[in-house]
Amino acid sequence: MSDLDQLQRDLLAAIGSADLAGLEDIRVSALGKSGSVTGLLKTLGGMSPEERQTTGPRIHALREAVTEALTGRKAGLEREALDARLAGETLDMTLPVDVPAAGTVHPVSQVMDELAEIFADLGFAVATGPEIEDDWHNFTALNIPESHPARAMHDTFYLPDQPDGERKMLLRTHTSPVQIRTMVDQQPPIRIIAPGRTYRSDSDATHTPMFHQVEGLVIDKGITLGHLKWTLETFLKAYFERDDIVLRLRPSYFPFTEPSAEVDVGYTIQNGKRAIGGSDHWMEVLGSGMVHPKVIAACGLDPDEWQGFAFGCGIDRLAMLKYGMDDLRAFFDGDIRWLKHYGFAALDVPTLSGGVGA
Ligand code: PHE
Repeated sequence: MSDLDQLQRDLLAAIGSADLAGLEDIRVSALGKSGSVTGLLKTLGGMSPEERQTTGPRIHALREAVTEALTGRKAGLEREALDARLAGETLDMTLPVDVPAAGTVHPVSQVMDELAEIFADLGFAVATGPEIEDDWHNFTALNIPESHPARAMHDTFYLPDQPDGERKMLLRTHTSPVQIRTMVDQQPPIRIIAPGRTYRSDSDATHTPMFHQVEGLVIDKGITLGHLKWTLETFLKAYFERDDIVLRLRPSYFPFTEPSAEVDVGYTIQNGKRAIGGSDHWMEVLGSGMVHPKVIAACGLDPDEWQGFAFGCGIDRLAMLKYGMDDLRAFFDGDIRWLKHYGFAALDVPTLSGGVGA
């Protein structure tokens, strides 16, 4: 075996068993300025043309083999190191963490779950709609045309004009546009509630720019005000978990219902605190009425065939009344101490049999 072959074998063997630092030493000792292979390349200049023709290619091949072996081994070692590191750094996501979960279920979420439970028992489905609405769904279809004063009363947040200038977009000011979306999408009979976020440019102890409402809608044949009153009474009795709930329907006005009624719930003062039930004092809890024939027609249904009732109720207000908070703004402060005090454990799922108040 020639010296060249021997040198190649020795070098490749050394490379094969070297670690990353060792590889660098070998590279310098073979291919560095005074390395063994570099030394051989330097001898080419002093060779006769014939000798150079035979030996030259062999030396070049040797240099190439060594370079290739060095790069290959280096890449292999680096990959192995990376694999080892990744394996060492895996986290077992199924292991319990040692910090106990700090959050609780927000009273608004809890009340929404309670509402869904109560109304599901009465045969109502839960419907949803977008918070960014167009003004047709939020106003026009609800019998609030452009010039209507109710538009001004809603303190609407409008979005900047659309490039196509077509639909004016806004943050929905109530959950009533879900009435429209449901009637447009579904054939009656319809029984839905629609809980969700609503927005008005208003802020004090009892108003926040973002608040929550629940809408109720029933569309069927032969629906009367009596159905509305029974439904609201049944709902409020289940919600407050008391049988002595007294309701008072006051004539009122909403463009999308006719006749319209505002609903007050009676309460008494016990030990200086408000207690729902009885009829010493009254508090307004929701707006309601028979769906206006124009609204039914705007959704493509025949108002002579279909009638219905609708109601809208502030969820934050409902939560405050049941769980005894007195400042609405605290609902949205994100203060963990408030949430710990008023919040609900994740497993407190409201059921009618267990008491919706959990
Ligand atoms: N959308 C009304 C409001 O926000 C409430 C309402 C809903 C009244 C449905 C009647 C019927 O004030």
